[in-house]
Amino acid sequence: MNIIITEDYDELSEKASEIIIEHVRNKPDAVLGLATGSTPLGLYKRLVEDHKENGTSYKQIRAVNLDEYKGLTKDHPQSYAWFMRKNLFDRIDIDLNNTYIENGTAKDEKSECERYDSILEQFPRDIQLLGLGSNGHIAFNEPNTPFDSTTHVVTLADSTVKDNARLFSDISEVPRKAYTMGLKSIMQAKKILLLASGLNKADAVAKLMYGKPTEELPASIISEHKDCTVILDEKAASKL
Ligand code: GLP
Repeated sequence: MNIIITEDYDELSEKASEIIIEHVRNKPDAVLGLATGSTPLGLYKRLVEDHKENGTSYKQIRAVNLDEYKGLTKDHPQSYAWFMRKNLFDRIDIDLNNTYIENGTAKDEKSECERYDSILEQFPRDIQLLGLGSNGHIAFNEPNTPFDSTTHVVTLADSTVKDNARLFSDISEVPRKAYTMGLKSIMQAKKILLLASGLNKADAVAKLMYGKPTEELPASIISEHKDCTVILDEKAASKL
């Protein structure tokens, strides 16, 4: 595992953007596995700036997202589909037809999971971006998710509902269920890039770095990946 410790969130975002931009320039039809949450916002801002200033193009890029709340339509302001449009897709030249995310309002859970797994199979990811939940989750794979999981529906941990409530007007509005890419699928990406920022991630980061891979800490699976980079800011790295 390649670990980069940065001074602060700005430097973390800068380093992450350098890695993604290099991928896009070297392989203009790359498949990017993308993530939501507050952590990648600085990275997405830099991708947009670089697109505007240097003309890096996403015309042939495909983007496959990790997860989506169950029950939210793709134009709901708190849906991850909307988040991606607002923070990245509508601000670069990517073709929206080349962007993929689970359908939070699909009628049948099983067929939606199968549909998404076949997309993941069709478009192998060159790089998979990940954030980190304070309880060690990645995507919406909560503690004790099997390492061999593919796309599935999860019931969110209480701590995740609380963490994510800041983005909703009231905690009662946070969906309790979500679709998520599974841990096995995450590991199938050629490269993994995990970002963690802030003190509330420090415990999970320390467990990830010092412990053995265990389903109790879903993020720990990435230590088994042969090409994995973790970028931390000083606060997230403060318990190392
Ligand atoms: C959510 C997302 C994860 C994300 C995590 C951390 O639960 N499903 O993909 O990594 O939040 O979010 P943040 O970056 O806002 O701390």
